[in-house]
Amino acid sequence: MHSIVSLISGRGSNFEAIYKAAQTKSWDVRFTGLIANQPEAKGLVFAKSVGIPTAVIDHRAYPSREAFDRALMQQIDAFSADLVVLAGFMRILTPGLIEHYEGRMMNIHPSLLPRFPGLHTHERALEAGDRVHGATVHFVSAGVDEGPIICQSEVPVLPTDTPSELAARVLKTEHQIYPLAVEWFIQGRLQITGNRVRVDPPELQYIPFP
Ligand code: GRF
Repeated sequence: MHSIVSLISGRGSNFEAIYKAAQTKSWDVRFTGLIANQPEAKGLVFAKSVGIPTAVIDHRAYPSREAFDRALMQQIDAFSADLVVLAGFMRILTPGLIEHYEGRMMNIHPSLLPRFPGLHTHERALEAGDRVHGATVHFVSAGVDEGPIICQSEVPVLPTDTPSELAARVLKTEHQIYPLAVEWFIQGRLQITGNRVRVDPPELQYIPFP
């Protein structure tokens, strides 16, 4: 049985989607902990309501990024994690932490990486005049929003879109691809070679807009 620890900063809807997929599909997993760096993160409420142990590690209480990451790592390991799921965790992680969880830490990013790493992806897609946008689940490696891509989803950009309308369309597909990526991981189907991730047996690692 795999144990999953998730890190969030806010709403936690991606975590909730993963948790619900696990229940619906009876995955052989345990959600051993959810950690937030923001005490008021809404996702904490959901985790508590379904009996998942939670912890708050407020980055503002630590003198440096390294000190915060040490505390984070201790808590993740105390919960015990085969897989660390970053789900809207808005902190840049230090190389030491990233290395510690190499090949077993995933992130979701609201763009078609490598396009638009960083913040404000929906605004940037609109400003660039892109006609397609989307989301990416990837293993975490050094570098912001970098690392081997597990799967991506695509949505159209409509001429009348505001950033929040586009964000809502992308979020719907995030809730499809993140559970899919986690399921592949716990089934032992993900193989990383360099910067490429293969699903074995093969499956489309791309979800087109329905
Ligand atoms: C998502 O758009 C995710 O891609 C990004 O932050 C947002 C988190 O949303 N990294 P939620 O907290 O999972 O609802």
